[in-house]
Amino acid sequence: MTYNNITSVINNQVALITINRPSKLNALNSETISELHDAISSLQSNTAVRVIIITGSGPKAFVAGADISEFADFNYEQAKRLSKQGQSKLFSFIEQCKKPVIAAVNGFALGGGLELAMSCHFRVASNNARLGLPEVSLGVIPGYGGTQRLTHLVGKGKAMEMILTASMVTANEGLEWGLLNYVVEPDNLLPFVETICQKIIANSPEAIGFAIQAVNACHDHDKDGYEVEIENFAKCFETEDFKEGTSAFLEKRKANFKGN
Ligand code: COA
Repeated sequence: MTYNNITSVINNQVALITINRPSKLNALNSETISELHDAISSLQSNTAVRVIIITGSGPKAFVAGADISEFADFNYEQAKRLSKQGQSKLFSFIEQCKKPVIAAVNGFALGGGLELAMSCHFRVASNNARLGLPEVSLGVIPGYGGTQRLTHLVGKGKAMEMILTASMVTANEGLEWGLLNYVVEPDNLLPFVETICQKIIANSPEAIGFAIQAVNACHDHDKDGYEVEIENFAKCFETEDFKEGTSAFLEKRKANFKGN
């Protein structure tokens, strides 16, 4: 598949999606959102892919936000559709992806850019990254899940401070607050994330999909996370991966999960 605003490359069972609008600091316009949806959807059903990384092109930005030029003259109905469709098409879609999606944050992650990073299963950033939800400085609030996911990640006090001041935090502050898992040198960002991917790839893809669902249930008000865990734990016992994983342990050999 070819795209106008992103690239998607597969190597060693890892797909690297790069948002490629550097002249606009990779701002998310509606075409980019659709392309990201299509790319992730196709990678999700591609058995040659086990982990997905999302990053931004250029040295400056991961994503500097939703494309402000696209919604500056929207009314209530249009704004509601933008937020609702964006959330289901991309942000919740990524969160619910059964393959791990990791954000490699290589610079500014602002507004929709931080919301995109937060919808990924976890985040690694380069030490030049700056993170923020500056929407109130534009007279609007985060609309792609930012008020919810930031609060889950850093707690209510820090989330309120970041959103109400519209300030950016450094990568090291993001690390301290639990918004980021690791901060590394810019040149080491993708190599470092790839080593994490290889650790994930050694494990059962079926169990990983069930684990993502169970962890996500923690913040889903419609679900009892403990019930989801019990159900998914039991479902693992019906999988080939479980037979292979337990046999390999008992036979003192490395598990060879299908897909590896
Ligand atoms: N939407 C649309 N265009 C954007 C954008 C966004 N969110 N963020 C940056 N751009 C564009 C700029 O308009 C500029 O385009 P131009 O060269 O055609 O004028 C280009 O990207 C480069 O940005 P610029 O502002 O010149 O870079 P900078 O280094 O001076 O500042 C930022 C970098 C990130 C601080 C600044 O671009 C910014 O504040 N962006 C908006 C962040 C934001 O509010 N995001 C939330 C949106 S809801």
